[in-house]
Amino acid sequence: MALLTETKVVRWGDLEEVEPVTSAGIDQLGDHEQRACTAALAPLCCPDIALLWLVRLVSVSMSAPTAAWESAGSGAVNGVVQERRLVTTIPGPRSIELQARKAEAVARGVGTTMPVFAAEAGGGVVVDVDGNSLIDFGSGIAVTTVGNSAPRVVRAVEEQTRRFTHTCFMVTPYEGYVAVAEHLNRLTPGDHEKRTALFNSGAEAVENAVKIARSYTRRQAVVAFDHGYHGRTNLTMALTAKNMPYKSGFGPFAPEVYRAPLSYPYRDGLDGEAAAAQALAVIEKQVGAESLAAVVIEPIQGEGGFIVPAPGFLPALARWCQENDVVFIADEVQTGFARTGGMFACEHEGVVPDLIVTAKGIAGGLPLSAVTGRAEIMDGPHTGGLGGTYGGNPLACAAALAVIETIESDGLVDRARAMGEVLLSRLGALQQRDPRVGDVRGRGAMVAVEIVDAGSGSRTPDAAAAAQIAAAAHREGLIALTCGTYGNVLRLLPPLSMPDHLLAEGLDVLEAAFASTR
Ligand SMILES: Cc1ncc(COP(=O)(O)O)c(C=O)c1O
Repeated sequence: MALLTETKVVRWGDLEEVEPVTSAGIDQLGDHEQRACTAALAPLCCPDIALLWLVRLVSVSMSAPTAAWESAGSGAVNGVVQERRLVTTIPGPRSIELQARKAEAVARGVGTTMPVFAAEAGGGVVVDVDGNSLIDFGSGIAVTTVGNSAPRVVRAVEEQTRRFTHTCFMVTPYEGYVAVAEHLNRLTPGDHEKRTALFNSGAEAVENAVKIARSYTRRQAVVAFDHGYHGRTNLTMALTAKNMPYKSGFGPFAPEVYRAPLSYPYRDGLDGEAAAAQALAVIEKQVGAESLAAVVIEPIQGEGGFIVPAPGFLPALARWCQENDVVFIADEVQTGFARTGGMFACEHEGVVPDLIVTAKGIAGGLPLSAVTGRAEIMDGPHTGGLGGTYGGNPLACAAALAVIETIESDGLVDRARAMGEVLLSRLGALQQRDPRVGDVRGRGAMVAVEIVDAGSGSRTPDAAAAAQIAAAAHREGLIALTCGTYGNVLRLLPPLSMPDHLLAEGLDVLEAAFASTR
């Protein structure tokens, strides 16, 4: 007979419960079966435990699962207390030790924003190896949108790991891949017939979107934009605008890639129609629609500086593409999956892309990416022309299904919008009192501050000041990233699982970092 021997923490909705554990046999059951089985056995072992257990079962089953950000308060999410707590200077001694090992073992080309090594993470906090709890305004570069080790993701991946870890979808397929494709076809903009193909990284998916567009149109040229970032593979380096650190010394790059000017309202002062006319004039003169397979654009530039194009810019480009049979590819690797307060950023302007590329937030940290789009375009390439050994790996697909369920049932699109209001209002107030804040922009939980030289009065980018402010925030336990063609943009990407009090405290730390560097 199984005996009650110890306790363990299990996930229930997004809340944590301590539950008795029985023998290994029962451990192999799912959560629900374990609960029923343990309750049945408990009275045989100890009436007190049985009573306690029954009370807990009733109270747990009566309470609806709650989103991590609602339930957390200052308590724990994923075992991680939702607080900022510094017990050493940043970085601490253990991180410094690991940083020295990294320097000896890891290629120096692989850089890090903060020399702080992670031990665990959850909700809105990353705990480092020295025991410091840091507020996470980075989400691993817009990846852990539903939170780190989000409970549903952990459950789904654990369960899938027990069933099988890999067969290769191109050898013996499995349902998880098809289910992810069905969800992407349902969730992405447009009600036309769609198909999806899955890959591993954002760059790989962008490359495949271009392959698909070329195969369908039988044309070769591709247009990307100033300030664009699309990855680090050969073709995506060619599509990426910024030289250092992404391209310098790594050429020659893929041919037939052309660049057009972007709408950058803070710097060009143009409205959307005028900026689109300027871009289309370059495209028509330097490439020609008859040679052009695709236009690739991020609806909000990510690495390029969180640049939100002026209203009307994206719709005008999409319209021109439609009129000229050019495939309009939206790279939503960074903006997708609720990040901007819409499931996808294209939705804010009612743009329906022909192909949409997703990754990052799609699978809660497991490597997965996708190209989704019009069935006739997606079905352009011949059978066997798309794929890869790991593309749509079963663990990543299980994670993606759990992410989608979490976004939809926890209302994370609305949560991103609400966080955006807090971010924009606090940073807008900061702009009023600090002349280095040239621009505050963004949508949802994807917000940036562009730092300029306060003395010059000419919007001169000030990368050194941005780096100084970020470093001051890091020292006080805030993970904050910089970006931008000019390196002068602080970007904020909190996980949507972050409780309100941490969002407010993170902004306090950021404001103090501004104050201490003036
Ligand atoms: C818009 C965009 N496209 C593509 C990529 C490349 O994705 P990955 O790093 O997964 O290859 C990124 C990564 O930051 C991105 O932001």
